[in-house]
Amino acid sequence: MRRIEGYAIVSTDGRIADANGVMPDSLRYDADQRFLQSALDRAAVVINGRHSAEGGPRAAQRKRLIVTRQIAAVAASPDNTNALLWNPAGATLEKALEALGVKEGTIAVIGGPEVFSMFLPLYDAFDLSRAARTTIPGGLPVFAEVGPNATPEDVLARHGLKPGPRRDLDASAGVTVVTWTR
Ligand SMILES: NC(=O)c1ccc[n+]([C@@H]2O[C@H](COP(=O)([O-])OP(=O)(O)OC[C@H]3O[C@@H](n4cnc5c(N)ncnc54)[C@H](OP(=O)(O)O)[C@@H]3O)[C@@H](O)[C@H]2O)c1
Repeated sequence: MRRIEGYAIVSTDGRIADANGVMPDSLRYDADQRFLQSALDRAAVVINGRHSAEGGPRAAQRKRLIVTRQIAAVAASPDNTNALLWNPAGATLEKALEALGVKEGTIAVIGGPEVFSMFLPLYDAFDLSRAARTTIPGGLPVFAEVGPNATPEDVLARHGLKPGPRRDLDASAGVTVVTWTR
């Protein structure tokens, strides 16, 4: 009874942050934030790289694995009792979840690019939000495989996921979401 689901909002050119690793305001929309936050409220655990987090008032209450090479395998987070630091090179996902006390439920993967890419073979679903009026030339791609010849959708399809219907999150701002599933 375990499910792995990814969440990202990307620019028209498939980027999640600028070249300095900063997510610009042009990718931040209240409707997308509400969509993400309510999904994370339903998740059993959130997984993110050391530079990413969803923010919001409930972030500290969520069980979390913070992906980092600063430790060998699994270790306590110095500033968050609900989180563990996790190095996938030293401990399997199963071991990390066991250490966190998570047995079942949705595992929500929220980035950044390397973490999104690492889970590509494993996603049961990926919720890809798009901001139709934002481009971030030279920014960080949602997946390492995104480039001049591969959109995020191409990459998801390459890894066996299929798109559902496009839904408006904020029609006036051109923000949509498509849930990709196996
Ligand atoms: N638009 C969106 O939906 C979205 C989603 C997520 C993030 N973002 C934005 O993207 C930016 C962050 O990007 P980022 O590239 O810095 O990503 P990140 O994944 O948050 O952080 C990168 C760090 O995570 C650790 N890490 C990543 N892959 C690892 C692996 N395979 N094994 C062990 N450790 C690993 C490393 O930490 P150590 O240095 O500690 O080893 C690495 O320095 C932020 O601006 C964030 O807001 C946007």
